[in-house]
Amino acid sequence: MDRHPLRLGLSTLGLLAPLAVHAADVRFVRDGTLVKAVDVAALRAACTPTTVTVDDPNYRARKRYLACPLADILHFGFGTPADALGSADVFIRAWDGYDKPTDAAQLAEPGAYLAFGDADVSPGADLRWAPLGPRGIDPGPLYLVWTKPARTRPWPWQIAEFEVVDFRKKYPHVVPTGIARSAPAWQGFELFRGECIACHAINGEGGDVGPDLNVPRSIVEYRPVAQIKAYIRNPTTFRYGKMPAHPDLSDADLDALIAYFRAMSRAKHDPRRSR
Ligand code: HEC
Repeated sequence: MDRHPLRLGLSTLGLLAPLAVHAADVRFVRDGTLVKAVDVAALRAACTPTTVTVDDPNYRARKRYLACPLADILHFGFGTPADALGSADVFIRAWDGYDKPTDAAQLAEPGAYLAFGDADVSPGADLRWAPLGPRGIDPGPLYLVWTKPARTRPWPWQIAEFEVVDFRKKYPHVVPTGIARSAPAWQGFELFRGECIACHAINGEGGDVGPDLNVPRSIVEYRPVAQIKAYIRNPTTFRYGKMPAHPDLSDADLDALIAYFRAMSRAKHDPRRSR
């Protein structure tokens, strides 16, 4: 009998896979290897949530959540203290294909909480959520919230997975290699990585909430530059979709993004065609 917990967990998962993994499981993955998959109820029992009050930028309201410090969750999931993750990249993947690369050091900060339910709409032990936004999204089963100012911090909802993996290893064809570090395309890449890649792929690598912006055709090959910029700033003047507005991006930021798209249009790698 193999009683090693990790091996046991993996083989159990393998047996269950054909029946579909339960939608309320959260996965902790390191470099493509599953470290732990745990039921959300078990995760909750392992960390004993308390009530935290936050200024929620998604609800645009002051909210109270039943939540545990994210550092405790990461420690439980990966089996090492969160601050031991150092400067690693942690990808937070949601059920809808949103996959946000974040800095492990930022996630280990005090003030990051993983919420299990909305304290004001959960009367008893049964954790619930208030519908979010015009589409009435359910942010459960897990929602990352901060007791610190929201700006520049990620607030992903419907979290399904935490993966520790080097950004360049996971997304090698997104980086504008071969271009001078001082060029605007690099600045555009940094912006893209921070604000866009959670939803958009380049060369098949990235989130898939929105379209791939490089293959088969680059966005700069089929849309006028002025239109792309206007779209990024305020998509709802074109269509009522799922893309958020980016009013904070300066003209120079938008130029840098275009420079990045142009550079990548000359470095295409289409995983669907090369096979
Ligand atoms: C939360 C997810 C999300 C984020 C973040 C996001 N987008 Fe989008 N984007 C979408 C979706 C979904 C679409 C498809 C149309 C729609 O729903 O608006 C889209 C459409 C687009 C389009 C139009 C594509 C076309 O061919 O019509 C461009 C250009 C674009 N996004 C660029 C960006 C850039 C640049 C950023 C970062 C500054 C960004 N997006 C951030 C989800 C996102």
